[in-house]
Amino acid sequence: MNNNEIIFPDGFIWGASTSAYQIEGAWNEDGKGLSIWDTFSHEAGHVLNNENGDIAADHYHRWQDDLDLIKALNMNAYRFSISWTRILPDGSGPVNQKGLDFYSRLIDRLLGLGIQPYPTLFHYDLPQPLQDKGGWPERETALRFADYAGVVGKAYGDRIQHWITHNEPFVTAFVGYYLGIHAPGIQDMAASLKSIHHLLLSHGLAVRELRRYSRPGTQIGAAINLSPIMPASDSELDHQAVERYDALLNRMILDPLFYGRYPVEIAPLIQSAVTGDLADDLKVMAEPTDYLGVNYYTRTVVQNDPAIPFLEASQVNPPGNEYSMMWEIYPPGLYDLLVRVQKDYKPALILITENGVPVPEDVDFDGRIRDERRIRYLSHHLMQTKKAMDAGIPVKGYFVWSLLDNFEWALGYRQRFGLIHVNFDTQQRTLKDSGLWFSQVARTNRLEDGQKYS
Ligand code: GCO
Repeated sequence: MNNNEIIFPDGFIWGASTSAYQIEGAWNEDGKGLSIWDTFSHEAGHVLNNENGDIAADHYHRWQDDLDLIKALNMNAYRFSISWTRILPDGSGPVNQKGLDFYSRLIDRLLGLGIQPYPTLFHYDLPQPLQDKGGWPERETALRFADYAGVVGKAYGDRIQHWITHNEPFVTAFVGYYLGIHAPGIQDMAASLKSIHHLLLSHGLAVRELRRYSRPGTQIGAAINLSPIMPASDSELDHQAVERYDALLNRMILDPLFYGRYPVEIAPLIQSAVTGDLADDLKVMAEPTDYLGVNYYTRTVVQNDPAIPFLEASQVNPPGNEYSMMWEIYPPGLYDLLVRVQKDYKPALILITENGVPVPEDVDFDGRIRDERRIRYLSHHLMQTKKAMDAGIPVKGYFVWSLLDNFEWALGYRQRFGLIHVNFDTQQRTLKDSGLWFSQVARTNRLEDGQKYS
């Protein structure tokens, strides 16, 4: 055995994550209703080059081949999201059997291949009819989400052992309702704060609903975007900026989920936006879960910045490190984050539910995609994951974002995150070098020659 090898335990969960709107296409097929992303991407000016997810990676039609590729990657798990409007075209009311059948077949085939399905109930694609009634700023939406959870719980609870309620509630609420960069493109702080409250409430309600239909031992959690916040300098003001950023980005979500309370910095803001007594809602939000899903891409370095409303802090890109097409590359941040989460929240289990990188890459003359930077990124983050595991942090699995190149929201198709390259003209799939590399890691539970990537 080579001393440089890093070995993961037997039974470690190796997977990839995707989401419905980003890969499925078939936006109006088989009875599917409109989601806010259909509406938003069809309006000019919201997405780079006015691209949309109408076809995306055409996964709705190619799902069987895609599942075979997951198998070829030697993964034992697959995280995907269910499109709410395939199941309930109006967001509530009548169920669309064809929609239910699509995911039922997907689940059966995954299980047949020995791949554990990890469905996520919500990955940004809110039914448009619910947005027309106000969307996440309305309490009603949380109740409709619980109903939807009941429908899928009932349909798949006999086969699903791992559920994920929400993906990145912070992004839904802040990027969708405050920055307006994501659907529904609203720029309103109060709407955003109300959204957070109702998203978290809907999570708790959905956990209860899913449990009603689950077999014993079924595990449920949420996938949360988290980032360690670091000061741009040693100044006291920058350190204070870190605390404010941390309250908004990390604690605003984790404190309610684990302790049923908002951080002191945030509580008055939520209380002023959401009228009524929050105590009962907070209790629901803290409904016990079985694991925490951590989506990690980069750290967040901040400076004091009075020009920024509300936060009075802004992000900086520190020199000296490597950058991707979207963010700084900072693998030790994953270790720091896991240590912090464990210390402050002690989740029973942790899954890395997303980690990945968009790097410039191309198809070489011989058809290969030599995405060495992605291999290095993933390898470094796996090393940090293992370091955290060695320190006693209960990480049980790791999901790469993403299986396939896909629709990266407002940034369209330019940002490629896949282990599998997709030619969006022909829909041809090609395993990238990173895919070949990952298939070895997942097969052997080890990072060969870890040193090479350190
Ligand atoms: C998110 C999602 C993914 C993204 C990925 C890369 O973070 O918005 O979970 O849908 O594609 O994170 O940005």
